[in-house]
Amino acid sequence: MRRYDLALIGFGGVNRALAALIEERGDELAQELGFALRVVAITDLRAGSLVDLDGLDLAPLLATAPGELAFADMKGGSPDPRNEWVIRDVPADIVAEATFTNPADGEPAVSHVRWALEAGKHVCTTNKGPVALHGRKLRNLAAEHGVSFEFEGSVLSGTPVLRTAQRLLSGLRITGVEGIMNGTSNFILGRLEDGADFEAAVSEAQDLGYAEADPTADVEGHDVALKVMILANEVLGADLRSEDVFREGISGITAEDIKDAADKGLRWKLVGSATRRADGSVDARVAPIALSADHPLSGIAGPVNAVAFRTDLLGTVTVSGPGAGRIETAYALLSDIIAIHQRHANDAAASCGHALEETVHG
Ligand code: HSE
Repeated sequence: MRRYDLALIGFGGVNRALAALIEERGDELAQELGFALRVVAITDLRAGSLVDLDGLDLAPLLATAPGELAFADMKGGSPDPRNEWVIRDVPADIVAEATFTNPADGEPAVSHVRWALEAGKHVCTTNKGPVALHGRKLRNLAAEHGVSFEFEGSVLSGTPVLRTAQRLLSGLRITGVEGIMNGTSNFILGRLEDGADFEAAVSEAQDLGYAEADPTADVEGHDVALKVMILANEVLGADLRSEDVFREGISGITAEDIKDAADKGLRWKLVGSATRRADGSVDARVAPIALSADHPLSGIAGPVNAVAFRTDLLGTVTVSGPGAGRIETAYALLSDIIAIHQRHANDAAASCGHALEETVHG
């Protein structure tokens, strides 16, 4: 059975949840999907790095509280994350990148992805930065090295938005995409409708773990702007930069705005959209919009996210589901690994068929 050796870059909530999935469901997944997964390296800013080319024993690592993990004390461990060395030099098939990303330049995640692709390793990442800011360059680099660059978790965590567009909607012309892509701001707008005050709603969202470390990224639309760029570039084939996306957050919405909208049967939502114009260019924006009850996004409540695709033959197709969460985002990485396996299994079958044809006709 095909086995993939993984290097996990970042061992926070998401890659820990991926490791737990591999530990708990590895056999079941192998049976269902026809491949096995083994973790050979982990790096983490706080814990350091740990390498075992025969496969790490994940159970004791998962049994240790995140703050107490210290790889330096273990065989094959170091107090230093050694990210570049692990990514470039430790033999692994797939690098699962789940560190942090600076929204201005996408680092350090961009370098992690680039090192892995240059080393001929497949990459799956949950980070928006590398995809939104350098997606095209990194896709080309992956193609140059004959490997895959997968990033389903960069938009709506494990809810399959990008793969839905790329695979299930293929053959349709997608003319636009709009979505509720930030659970924190959607939750806050809902609490405002319930009569809560803005600051209280923000701290409630933080307590519930929806908000980014700095909730400005959520309420001022920066988080959604990156997701809009990803959708515009990956689904509509645009080549937008941050400055091409109009952005307005929800901090200006008042209790009066909420009441006025409710009186008219409307609901305020923070909507991110990318729409193809008549000249072929793409208009991309994030702004609060008061939606009527018949709009496909108006009923999306609480921290839930949804993306509606406007298509020529099916009209509007909407995908809804979680947009954040450790396990939900770890599932995105797993779905990327499955995509990598399927693509390369198909490539191998095609080259095998080609060789057979040459033998028959040669
Ligand atoms: N903080 C984001 C949200 C999730 O509230 O939806 C990650 O993009």
